Amino acid sequence: MNIKRIAITTGGGDAPGLNAVIRAAVLAALNRGWTCCGIREGYNGLLEPDRFPQGGLIELTADSVRGITHLGGTILGTTNRGNPLKYPMMDENGQIKEVNRLDELIAAIQAHHIDALITIGGDGSMGIAHQLAQKGVRLVGVPKTIDNDLDRTVVTFGFNTAVYFATECIDRLHATAEAHQRVIVVEVMGRYAGWIALHAGVAGSADAILIPEIPYDINKVAEKVLAREKKGRHFSIIVVAEGARPIGGTYSVIRHAAGQTERLGGIGHKVGAAIETLTGKETRVVVLGHLLRGGKPTAYDRLLSLRFGAAAVRALAEGQTDVMVALDPPTVNYVPLELATSRMKTVPLDCDTILTARDLGISFGD
Ligand code: F6P
Repeated sequence: MNIKRIAITTGGGDAPGLNAVIRAAVLAALNRGWTCCGIREGYNGLLEPDRFPQGGLIELTADSVRGITHLGGTILGTTNRGNPLKYPMMDENGQIKEVNRLDELIAAIQAHHIDALITIGGDGSMGIAHQLAQKGVRLVGVPKTIDNDLDRTVVTFGFNTAVYFATECIDRLHATAEAHQRVIVVEVMGRYAGWIALHAGVAGSADAILIPEIPYDINKVAEKVLAREKKGRHFSIIVVAEGARPIGGTYSVIRHAAGQTERLGGIGHKVGAAIETLTGKETRVVVLGHLLRGGKPTAYDRLLSLRFGAAAVRALAEGQTDVMVALDPPTVNYVPLELATSRMKTVPLDCDTILTARDLGISFGD
């Protein structure tokens, strides 16, 4: 079937570069004579259209995507509470339960004469996309996440911007940590993967980096701080991934509500309190959190996003479906969604960035 109309959706947490993907996909689609619409807030625009006064779909034209390449956020809105496979709905007792609304979603896609989807998101969104494709929806996924934890692509867009900003923050914290002879613990996002902490920590010359892939012994981290003290370095920077955990311990979870993914956080304060007790050094904790997701994309992320958006349209035009565009330098390839979602991409313990960090004397608390 020839494509006449496509829809674009952005799901999960936002990441810098979403608008650039939308712009490239819309312009590439219009160039092929297709029309284009955007679904508001993940799939909510189709599942809950009455919630949107101007309708759940936005017509996307060359005008509507003008001047958005450099903007953070997403012009379509997004949500990490709208998984159609586990949609949170209130039952008759006022309890939130998870409902599978996939068939309703497919009916809405057909009712709006949408021939194909471009779905931009992280692991959750790619999993949903694979389920939709298995039920016959023609679609291509675009990998987004600051966490960089999607498999089968060298990198996801948003990651470079997050690392760049985290590194800038670590640079600033170095100055104040040294001036006050303090330890500063910097907690960064990344869920169960330590990519952001590792890359920003190494680039920003942290003294210790704690990541989920290497459970830590807090005494080893304290030893590192005290060893620096002996050498006359009266300050230390410890970068902690939100998913870091002590040896034999668990993740630091803030909340796990129905229809939502587990919210991680708090490990930075735990590490900070323990380091202050063990070293006697004044310690401060900075949680970068959502600052890593906001802001404009770096040139690297803009270009990657534009490449991904255009490649997604090429993939659809070539008759591809149930695939994700992926960076496979020097090109952008298509990989089956099933492979992209079969495992989480965590930091390999023998990767050269870990080896480099160890050679530089950075402690992983192991
Ligand atoms: O997946 C992106 C991410 O920013 C994670 O790093 C973080 O754990 C999570 O989303 C935070 O989600 P929320 O926006 O719901 O707080």
